Amino acid sequence: ASPPLIDPFARPITYLRVSVTDRCDFRCVYCMAEHMQFLPKAELLTLEELDRLCSVFVGLGVRKLRITGGEPLVRRGIMGFFQQMSRHLGEGLDELTLTTNGSQLGRFASELVDCGVRRVNVSLDTLDAGKFAEITRWGRLPQVLEGIKAAQAAGLRVKINAVALKGVNDSELFDLVKWCGDEGHDLTFIEVMPMGDLGNEDRLDQYWPLTDLRAQLSERFTLLDLAERTGGPARYVRLQETGQKIGFITPLTHNFCESCNRVRVTCTGELYMCLGQEDQADLRAPLRASEDDAALRNAIRAAIARKPKGHDFDYSRQTVAGQMTRHMSHTGG
Ligand code: GTP
Ligand code: 5AD
Ligand code: SF4
Repeated sequence: ASPPLIDPFARPITYLRVSVTDRCDFRCVYCMAEHMQFLPKAELLTLEELDRLCSVFVGLGVRKLRITGGEPLVRRGIMGFFQQMSRHLGEGLDELTLTTNGSQLGRFASELVDCGVRRVNVSLDTLDAGKFAEITRWGRLPQVLEGIKAAQAAGLRVKINAVALKGVNDSELFDLVKWCGDEGHDLTFIEVMPMGDLGNEDRLDQYWPLTDLRAQLSERFTLLDLAERTGGPARYVRLQETGQKIGFITPLTHNFCESCNRVRVTCTGELYMCLGQEDQADLRAPLRASEDDAALRNAIRAAIARKPKGHDFDYSRQTVAGQMTRHMSHTGG
């Protein structure tokens, strides 16, 4: 077997996030522009190529595979891909999962379970239908709530991801917590990251540091810090009063890069070593150049050897300097 992937800072790379499409049926304001230019189909990796690529990563020690997008469930034939990936479960892969906007879960939840998916992360920032339409532009709340219900009914654990947005969902903190508690979902808050072409704006005006959110929570609940992790960047607490689990993803207030275990592949086969850096390596060329995986493995190792120490996001400069023009949808978060 090949030696595992270890980066220059001695971090083992065991978590791969794969974006299977740049498309989405929503247009979330912090993720996409309203009018996106999508890639022509020929640019995309085929599902067979994605299979080969993921399988090579599993051979290199990846134990957790998260399918992202865009919206992964809008890619045609994606269930066949999940089915293929499920063969790695128990054979190197511990977890096969996805991050989704929830809109297609009504259709696909039970098939996902059949493919060995045990939990899904669903992006949902608000329970207010009007606000939901403002944030997602094209999304409709009832469809997502139905999708979540379908996922639960099919036996999937659901974790809700909410991007913390000042002036948007800060007034709803306790409603979100209560709803997730009642419905039995874990809930994770994410600090909004400065990505996308924002013109002269930055995300500072909507930035709601999770240190503030946490302080508000602790006015009403006793927060018990949990040591357990899910392999991702979130740190969790348990609310003593309700028993529910709340996660915090804090790229800005508490950088978690020192324990980074992940890399990302885009739907065109670019390998990004860090979400918050521009450096990437082309894996499509070695994929297409040869049927033999050796060149692909070499390209992956060479890229991991230059994984940076951490991201460059920074609101403290109060300028657009710490921003990245790449849209979040390109790398799938
Ligand atoms: P779990 O398996 O539940 O731990 O999921 P996860 O947090 O790994 O995946 P999810 O797709 O729910 O990620 C939530 C968000 O965390 C992502 O969309 C990103 O916005 C952010 N995130 C994940 N990994 C990184 C990272 O390496 N750096 C930064 N800055 N943000 C990340
Ligand atoms: N900052 C933080 N999180 C973001 N997401 C999308 N764009 C951003 C951003 N700019 C989140 C989505 C979803 C996950 C994949 O990334 O809400 O939960
Ligand atoms: Fe689509 Fe998710 Fe981006 Fe929203 S955050 S536009 S749902 S990919």
